[in-house]
Amino acid sequence: MKVAIIGTGYVGLVTGACLAQVGRQVHCVDTDRGRIGALRHGECPFHEPGLPALIASGVDSGHLVASDDIDQAASWAQLVFLCVGTPSVGGRIDLTAVRRAAEQIGHAWQGRNDRPVLAVKSTVVPGTTESVLRAALERASGLSAGTGFGLAVNPEFLSQGSAVADFLHPDRIVIGAFDEPSADRLLELYDPFDCPKLVTGLVNAELIKYAANSFQATLISFSNQIAGLCEAVPGADEAVVMKGVHLDRILSLSGADGPILAPAVRFLRGGIGFGGSCFPKDLLALQSFARDRGASTTMLDAVLETNRRRPTCILDLLRAELGGIEGRVVSVLGLAFKPDTDDLRESPGMALIRLLDAAGARIRGHDPLPLARHHAEAVLGPTAIVVDNAAAALAGADAAVIATAWPDYTGWNWTALAASMRQPLLIDGRDIFGGIPPGPPVAYRRVGIGRAPPTQQTRGAA
Ligand SMILES: NC(=O)c1ccc[n+]([C@@H]2O[C@H](COP(=O)([O-])OP(=O)(O)OC[C@H]3O[C@@H](n4cnc5c(N)ncnc54)[C@H](O)[C@@H]3O)[C@@H](O)[C@H]2O)c1
Repeated sequence: MKVAIIGTGYVGLVTGACLAQVGRQVHCVDTDRGRIGALRHGECPFHEPGLPALIASGVDSGHLVASDDIDQAASWAQLVFLCVGTPSVGGRIDLTAVRRAAEQIGHAWQGRNDRPVLAVKSTVVPGTTESVLRAALERASGLSAGTGFGLAVNPEFLSQGSAVADFLHPDRIVIGAFDEPSADRLLELYDPFDCPKLVTGLVNAELIKYAANSFQATLISFSNQIAGLCEAVPGADEAVVMKGVHLDRILSLSGADGPILAPAVRFLRGGIGFGGSCFPKDLLALQSFARDRGASTTMLDAVLETNRRRPTCILDLLRAELGGIEGRVVSVLGLAFKPDTDDLRESPGMALIRLLDAAGARIRGHDPLPLARHHAEAVLGPTAIVVDNAAAALAGADAAVIATAWPDYTGWNWTALAASMRQPLLIDGRDIFGGIPPGPPVAYRRVGIGRAPPTQQTRGAA
């Protein structure tokens, strides 16, 4: 099958490279010429584990080509995926890029009589595909949906950092189709994928994506509420409490011997909060969409507000522990919104840096990924010194905050690093060490999230 991908960001490029890998002919298009230049050389323009090898083999085999020519790609393809961004502007979804791309695709389809299909992977609020994108396609192509072209919504559930594995081994594939032939085109495409496939209408598929993201974000904010409660109850530990909750079989994978704690459960835990290019903007888009229609948003409001406050909670913790922020040297470990991505969008670590800056701290930022550091330097300017190693991050610091759960951080020689700090205080914002004493035998104070402050006696032992 001949597939065009419009927009080669995290979703489009992973989709294109994985489909090329399973034998589809793929033409990736982007308006960003730098990105296309890299792809043509078989290079990956951003960090995503496993993706460079897929791109290189796709380009080598000729299954994957890239250009900035949307007209050529869309007029050639039997199936076109719309993967451009749908950012949040003033808390509302901005449909400019999807509308523009749909017009370009429609223009390329003029005169076609072989019924191409557009599948929308961009996350769009319910009704957008039917009302905005169908109209743009019909206007620009002179064809009608159903007879001249097919239309579908095929939301993407991949997670940055594990996107290739998520795409190749999905939990489910959701196909919202305008009509049966549109659904059949996508079912044929995904034939090699062995997972539940849910075929539904356009609006349900659009809503499934928002509901899935909102559900996960709700679990995170719920964990953060429980964390706040645990901090007020001596002896309570959010890590233990949520582990007990997640062992319920409705939240766990089931194995032969009963429930298995899903690996993903860690990110549903309390901490510095969620970020990234999806959860914050998608929840805001759904909130404003629901409000406009008079539907209740109380849950979404609480989830967003709880999350918005997380970096401030860490700042308050630092203030209390250090007796003030002004002039203190604070290291923020982890600049991207999660491990194994260079994406800084809505990163809680970056939000904390801004709060620390406003409070007068001197900030060092660290991320194990060179690309994440490079992006952070460009965004932060003189606000923070971005460093590339543990010693530079911690020497002379009054406190360090772990903002992303990079496994690298557990491998640092914390004992030696503590000796180089002015005040050996560590705030484990992702609970990567799993608790204050017992913990690594180092001479610093560790403050976890979701636990009452340790007594002086236990602090000394930490
Ligand atoms: N990033 C994720 O993890 C993720 C997961 C699921 C769904 N989504 C959704 O998928 C969509 C894309 O997300 P992303 O993170 O890949 O976005 P992105 O911003 O990383 O990439 C979008 C790309 O589209 C290109 N583009 C814009 N207009 C174009 C046009 N007319 N023709 C060709 N290219 C064009 C841009 O240059 C950019 O490279 C969004 O709606 C997002 O909400 C993202």
